[in-house]
Amino acid sequence: SKITYVQPDGSLETCDVSPGKSLMLAAQSKGISGILGECGGQAMCATCHVYVDESFLDKLPAPSEEEDAMLEEAASDRRPNSRLSCQIDASDELDGLVVHVPAEQL
Ligand code: FES
Repeated sequence: SKITYVQPDGSLETCDVSPGKSLMLAAQSKGISGILGECGGQAMCATCHVYVDESFLDKLPAPSEEEDAMLEEAASDRRPNSRLSCQIDASDELDGLVVHVPAEQL
């Protein structure tokens, strides 16, 4: 599915991500900046924080307790559309998803 990552300066990169791959791992393998993923995808670092485009929010499963707790630790403000990109897997349903990379991850 096509996933678009928007940088804080407004520049965007769209990638083809295989179903089942997390948006964090996809960003890493495509060299997208600003998504660090320091814990390797275990919902334990919040350096993969993204703001999910509002129009896709209801297509995502609710965050787990771990994710919800980590989002409180994120370096950039938590907003209602904040998610950990390691906890979102690409799927046909999410084709066209747009995520915004926060200004700070550390
Ligand atoms: Fe650490 Fe997502 S990679 S919380």
